[in-house]
Amino acid sequence: MEIKSNYSLKKHNTFGVDVSCNTFVTLTNQKEASDYVQNKLDKTQPYLLIGEGSNILFINDFEGTVIHMQNKGFEVLDETHKNVWIKAAAGEIWDDFVAWSVERKYAGAENLSLIPGTVGAAPIQNIGAYGIELSEIFNGLEAIEIETGELRRFYLRELQFGYRDSLFKQELKNKYIITAVILKLNKFPFFKIDYGNIKAELESMSYENLSIAIIRQAIINIRNRKLPDPKLRGNAGSFFKNPIVNQKMHNELIKRFPKLASYDLKNGSFKLAAAWLIDQAGFKGLKKGNVAVHENQALILTNLGQASGKELLSFSEEIQRKIEEMFGVELEREVNII
Ligand code: EPU
Repeated sequence: MEIKSNYSLKKHNTFGVDVSCNTFVTLTNQKEASDYVQNKLDKTQPYLLIGEGSNILFINDFEGTVIHMQNKGFEVLDETHKNVWIKAAAGEIWDDFVAWSVERKYAGAENLSLIPGTVGAAPIQNIGAYGIELSEIFNGLEAIEIETGELRRFYLRELQFGYRDSLFKQELKNKYIITAVILKLNKFPFFKIDYGNIKAELESMSYENLSIAIIRQAIINIRNRKLPDPKLRGNAGSFFKNPIVNQKMHNELIKRFPKLASYDLKNGSFKLAAAWLIDQAGFKGLKKGNVAVHENQALILTNLGQASGKELLSFSEEIQRKIEEMFGVELEREVNII
């Protein structure tokens, strides 16, 4: 356990915003986490749990304690001829888990390659990309209850996973420190390559037989082309969620914008590509002060260097207003404002 005071969070948020917190604590195992919340954490002051800080925008210094779980390790818990259950420590980097499983030919996580963040943060917003969501390979998780220090297990059906949503983003927000995630992967791969431009990417690659390692490489290639590297340009991936509208609204929009990028959810609603809306509204590549809309993906706001959280937030609000005015659609933030 390591405890620091008046600590800069610049390296702990991928936007690279320079704010500080009163106390920063790093926990390296489950027992430490339990001891810490029972005996040391001042629960009368605000506290915040962070992984890699890849989905956070700090708009102020944090006047409280930031808790960072940094335990490590992957362990095969069980296997059958078809499946394997892996317990991954919450502090592992998500993409290290994907790489580890692809190397062992355990399939299911490859489409989620290169998503920034830790394993422990993955279930909170049910990370997703290229036609897969975490919920499809999730089996359960272990977490320490902050109030009592007790270890609890949660299973798939309890998590209420939705699009970038789960119980840990709602009722249980900030109530537990997730310490491990259990994932159920497949020994016989089922390739998911229908989404977006995966097939086109595969066609441009040379390989003999399709495998999950090839799919992982294709996704890494696509992501590297489109998404800015937070080490070079601060960002938190998609800033907004893709909005969901009903059939009536969708019909009206299609009439006005025949090229609207949308996806039929087959339940009477449609998911609109927020990136398309923002692009059409003329924001793509636009710079304002220290903030820019990424030139290769309009859903991403970037810090050109010295941006403050407030500056980033204010640009994002300008985008929201314009999208509402132009399309009558409300953009909901994906990133958490602290
Ligand atoms: N598009 C534009 N302009 C742009 C970018 C995209 O018109 O600047 C259009 C594309 O032509 C496409 C559509 O918008 O028809 C969707 O674009 P894309 O496939 O890039 O995906 P997205 O919906 O913008 C989502 C996730 C990403 C994830 C990708 C790939 C959300 C909020 N975002 O983006 O997740 O990587 O799909 O699966 O659901 C993240 O959550 O941080 C994130 C990066």
